[in-house]
Amino acid sequence: MLNIDLHELQQHATPLYVYDLNLLRQTLQTAKTEAGKYNYHVHYALKANANAPILAEMLQHGFGADCVSGNEVKAALENGFGSEDVVFAGVGKSDAEINYALEQDIFCFNCESKQELEVLNELAEKKGKTARIALRINPNVNANTHKYITTGLEENKFGINAWELESVLELLAQLKSIELIGIHFHIGSQITDLTVFKNLCTRVNEFQDWFAARNIRLQHINVGGGLGVDYYHPEQQPIPDFAAYFGLFHQFLELKPGQQVHFELGRALVAQCGTLVSRVLYIKKGLSTNFAILDAGMTELIRPALYQSYHKIENLTSREPEERYDVVGPICESSDCFGKAVQLPETSRGDFIAISTAGAYGEVMASNYNLREKAKALYL
Ligand code: LLP
Repeated sequence: MLNIDLHELQQHATPLYVYDLNLLRQTLQTAKTEAGKYNYHVHYALKANANAPILAEMLQHGFGADCVSGNEVKAALENGFGSEDVVFAGVGKSDAEINYALEQDIFCFNCESKQELEVLNELAEKKGKTARIALRINPNVNANTHKYITTGLEENKFGINAWELESVLELLAQLKSIELIGIHFHIGSQITDLTVFKNLCTRVNEFQDWFAARNIRLQHINVGGGLGVDYYHPEQQPIPDFAAYFGLFHQFLELKPGQQVHFELGRALVAQCGTLVSRVLYIKKGLSTNFAILDAGMTELIRPALYQSYHKIENLTSREPEERYDVVGPICESSDCFGKAVQLPETSRGDFIAISTAGAYGEVMASNYNLREKAKALYL
């Protein structure tokens, strides 16, 4: 349950993103400690939440930045990350974005196609620079997660497929303004079955042998992010099991001497610290349940509409006996629904409703559809 006094909440307009910075700090400290046991480097995936106070905590805990657009690179640098701690991935980096990242001398471009390598080489050459790159390889490992957040299958647009690698090496031999420093993988998001990461390790080991057989030394192995969180029991499991996660890589990843392992975690670091708070606008009779119509909608949290994802919903105000409600937003779309037949205490106009686990891919995915105002954030 959200740790906030209702009188304090009354002072604020809703919808409102509420962030528990204490929980965030505990989460980051745990991740840092567990990754530190193996000297692993964690880059925070800014795409999960790029708010300045969140980035400040990431920086304080010594994480680098994983970016997927020029503006994310800019946000990382403006918020104090050193350019040597910034990686830049994405299948569609524009020339302007590449030029900007080259000018900033970022640590590494994670490259996803042959054509991108050629363009990066050309742009780096024009600037008289050498771009450090990792090849993002598509390992064809099934992440067992929602199909919209699966990225490591050959049918997905991400990464370079194994059957293209030989020709990529031939190309790299000709590109003089690019330096290959590592390989990169990211197979999907909200992965809760850890054996998926074990399968990834097996594939990474195979790729490592493939490169070693060709006398190519790779300093950096980046295994991406993807660790899932418990959307069903946010209170019981507010901090993901980082010990099991990093321990598994330690157990199954076979490293060559001197190699550095990198991770790109987003959701696991920030999801549980954020709650979307809303007021009930209206209660309306439905066919089998009533509708609780909130002042928050898919414009503030699109995950249920986009991925049919579950978020725990609670009434912070009412203690009355329970009833069932379809909890919906005000947007003119039938998919604007946070949950069907949700058990809640009897709910009335003006009650506060908390939607949990909204810290990752909540505020960053907000839109102003229906010309809605941007909701504010409150940091506890
Ligand atoms: N690295 C790369 C290259 C990525 O594409 C992503 C996420 C991450 C790291 C971080 O993954 P995480 O640790 O957060 O799972 N909007 C969706 C999630 C999209 C994830 C996109 N890529 C959602 O709300 O579930």
